Amino acid sequence: MNKTAAIIGGGVIGGGWAARFLLNGWDVRVFDPDPDAEAKLAPVLAQARRALPSLTDVALPPEGRLSFHNDLANVVRNVDWVQESVPERLEIKHRVLAQVQAACPENAIIGSSTSGFKPSELQRDAERPGQIMVCHPFNPVYLMPLVEVVPSPATDLALVKRAQEVLRGLGMYPLHVRKEIDAHIADRFLEAVWREALWLVRDGVATTEEIDEAIRMGFGIRWGQMGLFDTYRTAGGEAGMRHFMAQFGPALQWPWTKLMDVPEFTDELVDLIAGQSDAQSGHMTLAQMLTARDDNLVGMMRSLKANNWGAGAVLNAHEVTLRAGTDLAAHADDLENVSAPILTVRRSVPLDWTDYNGHMNEARYLQAFGDATDRFMALIGCDADYIATGGSYFTAETHIRHMDEAVAGDLIEVRTQVLAGAGKKLHLYHEMYEGKRLLASGEHFLLHVSLESRRPSNPSVAISAALERIAEAHASLPLPDGAGRSVGQRP
Ligand SMILES: NC(=O)c1ccc[n+]([C@@H]2O[C@H](COP(=O)([O-])OP(=O)(O)OC[C@H]3O[C@@H](n4cnc5c(N)ncnc54)[C@H](O)[C@@H]3O)[C@@H](O)[C@H]2O)c1
Repeated sequence: MNKTAAIIGGGVIGGGWAARFLLNGWDVRVFDPDPDAEAKLAPVLAQARRALPSLTDVALPPEGRLSFHNDLANVVRNVDWVQESVPERLEIKHRVLAQVQAACPENAIIGSSTSGFKPSELQRDAERPGQIMVCHPFNPVYLMPLVEVVPSPATDLALVKRAQEVLRGLGMYPLHVRKEIDAHIADRFLEAVWREALWLVRDGVATTEEIDEAIRMGFGIRWGQMGLFDTYRTAGGEAGMRHFMAQFGPALQWPWTKLMDVPEFTDELVDLIAGQSDAQSGHMTLAQMLTARDDNLVGMMRSLKANNWGAGAVLNAHEVTLRAGTDLAAHADDLENVSAPILTVRRSVPLDWTDYNGHMNEARYLQAFGDATDRFMALIGCDADYIATGGSYFTAETHIRHMDEAVAGDLIEVRTQVLAGAGKKLHLYHEMYEGKRLLASGEHFLLHVSLESRRPSNPSVAISAALERIAEAHASLPLPDGAGRSVGQRP
């Protein structure tokens, strides 16, 4: 049975949470007194459905059920998680949290999205303070991994642990903030940068556009992969952090910043900034900007994923849980029945796999079939541990036939038939489907190779046995229509 999340307040942030839970297989109940709540959430959900499945190379679970309610008590009854995302006003948060606690299970997690309040402030006069913690996300919640999980000393630590596990299960990165503080950790930096930027614009030093370029052409990219301290460590050369601090520490005494002052938000300053912002980005609609933002975030996180680094390492960890318990994680010995072609890929076509025609690029068919071959190798025991011992399969020949189109977001599956598998030789025939639609076939011929001599060699006894079991079972399958064709040859 699916787990259930209650989303209290379905604005920008509540909508993002709803999408994050829903697309990870949770049932979601939304409570928001705004009569337009459902209409407001629809575009957020559409953006999430477009972008989130692109992040991983394994399909997300089937979506849960989404429902809207106008009775808060019913919404929170029997749920596993309550996420409060109402406006940032303490009296509203107190009122809502009291109503939530009057009806929700005592062991449900109650997370608040508050950007500024401390958990102890939210817990004031609460029936069960131990149940309440801050779970502060980042916009867009359906793509950004970070959640600052902030307990107060009164929060039940076992519940905090459980909250972190749930968030990891949603593909997020829970950062346990050990000491509560106004505005937590990340927004304190943003506040510092925001203050400095306001002064620079007000004093005519830079426009909004120049400031954004200073960020996105330089330290913004750096921070996305190494943060602040590791970036400075590398800047210190071999001597590292100590050298960096010795070199740049004295600069902190110079009157560079105006961090403790805030320029007054006069009409003139607001007009100046809003005018510059219009000049900078007024040619784009909000929808265009959100699409660009999501495409860029997906692309950046996917490249970090290839390096198993930062936010990309979080995606890889999520994939492990998505695969766990499915055929996509099993060893051949654990599959009871191998008589049919074997599922080797089940994924969504990501946003960055399509080309100028809007459909999946040829190179990506090869990538998907390459992934299917890699998965087949792992299935028979030729995994990273085995390869480290000095043996692997090398692809000697590939033939791909394209039958139908695939577009971004399509859920594709590859099923793999062994045409020959004995000794050094492995001959695989992959078929790629979207639903019942056959999109392509990919035929790979591989040789087992000694990584030391770089010459063909026999695989281990265990791999040979696993492969022969599947090859024998597949020997009775009909030879696929497209197998063994040369280029241009038609039936
Ligand atoms: N916007 C951000 O970038 C951001 C980022 C992280 C956290 N937050 C935090 O998330 C929370 C929500 O911010 P937002 O930007 O989504 O605001 P929002 O104004 O977009 O959404 C608030 C929603 O709460 C609803 N609401 C009002 N009273 C309610 C009630 N009594 N019960 C249920 N719903 C009610 C409103 O109708 C609205 O849909 C705030 O605490 C904010 O600090 C915001």
